[in-house]
Amino acid sequence: MTKKGERAVVRGLKDVAAAETKISFVEPKGFLYYLGYNIDDLVGRVVYPEVAFLLIHKRLPNRQELDQFNACLISEMKLPERMVESIRATPKSCHPMDILRTEVSRLGECDPENNDLSEAANLRRATRLVARVPTIVATIHRVRLDKPIPVPREDFSFTENFLYMFKGSPPEEAETDVLHRLMILQADHGFNASTFAARVTASTNSDMYSAVTSAIGTLKGPLHGGAGEKVMEMLDDIGLEEHVEEYIQGLLDENKKIMGFGHRVYKAEDPRTKHLRGIVRNLCYRDRTNSLCNKCSKIEKIVHDRKKIYPNLDFYSAVAMDALDVPKEFFTPFFASSRISGWVAHVIEQYEDAVLLRPSSKYVGEFGRKFIPIEQR
Ligand code: COA
Repeated sequence: MTKKGERAVVRGLKDVAAAETKISFVEPKGFLYYLGYNIDDLVGRVVYPEVAFLLIHKRLPNRQELDQFNACLISEMKLPERMVESIRATPKSCHPMDILRTEVSRLGECDPENNDLSEAANLRRATRLVARVPTIVATIHRVRLDKPIPVPREDFSFTENFLYMFKGSPPEEAETDVLHRLMILQADHGFNASTFAARVTASTNSDMYSAVTSAIGTLKGPLHGGAGEKVMEMLDDIGLEEHVEEYIQGLLDENKKIMGFGHRVYKAEDPRTKHLRGIVRNLCYRDRTNSLCNKCSKIEKIVHDRKKIYPNLDFYSAVAMDALDVPKEFFTPFFASSRISGWVAHVIEQYEDAVLLRPSSKYVGEFGRKFIPIEQR
């Protein structure tokens, strides 16, 4: 409160702690922890399902638990036929994020235990969502290409199956390794906007599908997960490497934002960037990736020199996804396919917290306006 009865507005909820969480910690000096583990200790040493298990069950699995979890994810990957039909019926002009948002909502209709909000049912639902969001994304892609939808294979890991279903052919080991790293880095990030949206919905005791639908709609925005697609549009629009300087200086002169830069919390470099930079540099034997990387290095330097800000997750992850031959309109759906593990973990934590998230506002509108009946307006 400021003056008596008057509320102080924290614009954009900057630095406001909206609840306690044990899931992840975004440290402004440039560190990120999942359940107490520094991500630097996880990337390259664990597979993505290990991190999904960690987020949902709040501890790392042992070998047997991981094998069971992986098998469970694969068994849940296949979509109900009416969802595949619904995806087929969607106009190809729709953005994949719009289709994903609708189909995750439809998953709620297809859940036989939708009215069971017990802890056990929510854990089953969380696993199902972690398994099926990637499958929905792969199905949207295959349908748009008029290509058959591969059936998940038991001899593939969950992550291999995601790439297999998306591309239609078995992935190479190096591609799967890139995807594991990318999915781990995208899995969770404190009270980011989409996670907060999911928690607000869950705080009303609404179901998990509704909460994830809210999250997907929020991730789509270009200030959040939609930034990656904009990064690739910018990199393609720049054209030749020698045009970078003029293009970026021009945007900054016009006070325009450079997509994939800046962060609400980090005051130092985003800890995920060094991993992503490493991933894409390893892929520079591809001519296109090499050229994109060269442009990215130049952009980083110019933006840092002028604005003292750093790339965020979406900058180099765009290049990594491009190297996996993921079309740019699928960058945000891929992001959602990883962030789903963080969303469901936060939804479960929000149910445990059992408090309605409902802030107040400072009214700055008018009072005492004279009502005029419609016939006289
Ligand atoms: N390009 C150029 N300048 C940027 C910038 C960017 N991407 N991001 C922040 N800035 C500048 C702002 O212009 C502002 O400068 P000023 O103080 O001179 O006016 C300052 O940095 C603070 O930016 P602000 O937008 O107020 O910070 P925020 O915490 O509200 O916003 C983001 C954070 C992420 C929304 C913002 O950095 C952004 O829009 N980035 C681009 C989109 C993006 O990559 N999103 C993915 C986020 S993970």
